Amino acid sequence: MKNILIDCDPGHDDALAIIVALANPQKLNLLGITTIGGNQTITKVTENAKKLLGFLKAKVPLAAGQSNPLKRSLKTAPEAHGDTGMDGPFFDGTTYPLSDLSGVDFLYEKIMASEGTVTIVALGPLTNIALLLTNHPEVKGKIGTISLMGGGIDHGNYTELAEFNIYVDPEAAEIVFQSGLPIVMAGLDVTEKAEITVAEIKALQGKGRVSQLVYELLSFYNESGRQFGFIDSPIHDLCAVAYLLAPEIFKGTYANIHVITDESLARGLTYGDFRKSASKFKPTLVLQEVDRQKFVELLLEALRYLDAV
Ligand code: BDR
Ligand code: CA
Repeated sequence: MKNILIDCDPGHDDALAIIVALANPQKLNLLGITTIGGNQTITKVTENAKKLLGFLKAKVPLAAGQSNPLKRSLKTAPEAHGDTGMDGPFFDGTTYPLSDLSGVDFLYEKIMASEGTVTIVALGPLTNIALLLTNHPEVKGKIGTISLMGGGIDHGNYTELAEFNIYVDPEAAEIVFQSGLPIVMAGLDVTEKAEITVAEIKALQGKGRVSQLVYELLSFYNESGRQFGFIDSPIHDLCAVAYLLAPEIFKGTYANIHVITDESLARGLTYGDFRKSASKFKPTLVLQEVDRQKFVELLLEALRYLDAV
């Protein structure tokens, strides 16, 4: 059983990562969720997290994190996730409690109070995590791994060279990648192979309460993905949770990752030292391959579980 904390900006694919984490209580002990300004403003993504957790009847503590990147103004992604940040489904007026603590203080308290180590799952810009590591370095001894969605070794999506989460807060990303902690990087190299097909999305319609929600989420997300040239939909953020549940369905290589923080064409580019020498510092496992069918099966299995609850 792994203790995990999820830091996210829901976000369609963030929502799917949360759903699959909640559907695996025998493997993942979800200690809490924090939000971060990214796909939409902190107000909107926190509202989305509340709606989703309310809908799922979850009992996981939730706290709102930073509104803005460390040094930059926030960029959001309405073109991918809509005006609410999680367009598609209609949620009725369920309410969900929000912690009084800031996201960073919440993460700190949860980590220090936990028995054993905690895995951080980071699904948005890395601002909360960078502040946590900088302001409270003592947490490092209690963090087992950071499993994150971000970056891409040979291409970007928000720009030619940069993936969205890293582009938004490159300084935070550099702090995290250079923290010395073991990191699993689910970047575009692998997440664009972790697609759900149109037929698989359609098959969810009417299957059950949570399947129907996912159908509505993915229908919007699939449609918005068309403008970027995708026919099927890459479920980026789910990779960071799927790796924790089934590492054997992924392949990757260790590297030392740096982030370009200049305000240039390369802002937010992640590049790696993959040289083989054993003496090299290579804390990041860069995921490169995934068994797509097994990945989708992980999602379907989670939905069968939640539809039956
Ligand atoms: C990442 O950016 C966001 O739009 C998604 O939620 C994901 O975390 C993909 O580049
Ligand atoms: Ca995200």
